[in-house]
Amino acid sequence: MFARRLEKHADWLMDRRLGEPLESKMKIDIGIKAEKREQIAGGLSRVLADTYTLYLKTHNFHWNVTGPMFQTLHLMFETHYTELALAVDQIAERIRALGLPAPGTYKEFAKLSAIKEDTGVPKAEDMIKRLVEGHETVARTAREVFTAAEGANDQPTCDLLTQRMQVHEKTAWMLRSLLE
Ligand SMILES: [Fe+2]
Repeated sequence: MFARRLEKHADWLMDRRLGEPLESKMKIDIGIKAEKREQIAGGLSRVLADTYTLYLKTHNFHWNVTGPMFQTLHLMFETHYTELALAVDQIAERIRALGLPAPGTYKEFAKLSAIKEDTGVPKAEDMIKRLVEGHETVARTAREVFTAAEGANDQPTCDLLTQRMQVHEKTAWMLRSLLE
């Protein structure tokens, strides 16, 4: 699964390379080798795609939730999608700081994300379950990428990923608690 997703990212990066140079003319010299920066940015692109997909799913559920828990869930989902919308910017800008292009289209996100999109409108309880799964998925992707960032001595990426794992694990717990 992980290997296949890495492969998909490599394809995507090749497509990008055909269109534009990877780096600006002035060389990046921050103490992380180009190969490592590329590897970390590839991982962050998957975190970005997961986060964007989860953002859209949460906003979708904010719009379409129904039932006796409407008020609670409608407002809770708004808090969550607002946080996710801010997070995608942080992740994309870290990719840019590493010297790589950030993916920014639905096509690229669909290719890179491990989170499945929904069809139709799930019942309120199923929305909660799918969001728990979504938050857990981003936490797992972030955890995988953390190892690469740590190995490359990339503290800012480790810091960003630690913050993202905290948010996703806490949100998953809060949503899971609604089901008990
Ligand atoms: Fe709204």
